Amino acid sequence: MKKIEFKNPIFVKTALKSEHYPKLFCEDGTPMHEIAVAGRSNVGKSSLINHLFRHGKMARTSSTPGKTQALNFFTIDDTLAFTDLPGYGFAKVPEKVRRSWGPMIQSYMEKREHLKVILFLFDIRRMPNDDDRKLLEWVIHNEKSMILVLTKVDKLGKGQRQAQASKIIKAFGADNIQSTFYSVTKNIGRQELIRMINEALISEEEV
Ligand code: GTP
Ligand code: MG
Repeated sequence: MKKIEFKNPIFVKTALKSEHYPKLFCEDGTPMHEIAVAGRSNVGKSSLINHLFRHGKMARTSSTPGKTQALNFFTIDDTLAFTDLPGYGFAKVPEKVRRSWGPMIQSYMEKREHLKVILFLFDIRRMPNDDDRKLLEWVIHNEKSMILVLTKVDKLGKGQRQAQASKIIKAFGADNIQSTFYSVTKNIGRQELIRMINEALISEEEV
């Protein structure tokens, strides 16, 4: 697979049910590999997609948690699909929407056969809760590659970041998690994340 340059971002569609997920193919007719961006509400998923794509308004962001309530599909470089997943754990989202989150994400992970990598976004100032652990369990259960993206690192001093990252990873209880720092506002981590995504996709191909 060619290296993803993160050019030509395209919004494809919004979907709630699996029968409405788009079927995406590369120019040569092969199915596109897919990357999903997951994590707690307000962690910065939609903002990170816009920053990665260098496109201010591709994914809708908001200071009100619970903005993204369905799955949003994008493509980049006409080669790779990206999914912005709804966040979990926000109390003010209507009960019905909150209850539908688990089954929606679970069925997406199980049914989306070309889903290769999960970007698990996690606010560097927090500690994992039960919902975060559940997401990690699903990722492991479905044998997807995962990159833990520690977001909003601008909120912590440079000296504190590594120690906080180690604490979070330890609290998840899985020692082989690969992680990286990200800040949209301070423009930190884009190149490194692109490098890690390309590497993850290459190792997926070798499996
Ligand atoms: P849901 O759609 O509710 O799941 O949220 P989300 O994870 O998509 O978060 P979103 O991208 O909408 O961002 C939530 C808030 O965090 C917004 O006010 C963003 O401006 C802010 N934010 C996102 N990234 C960063 C960052 O790197 N640093 C700081 N300081 N704020 C950020
Ligand atoms: Mg969002």
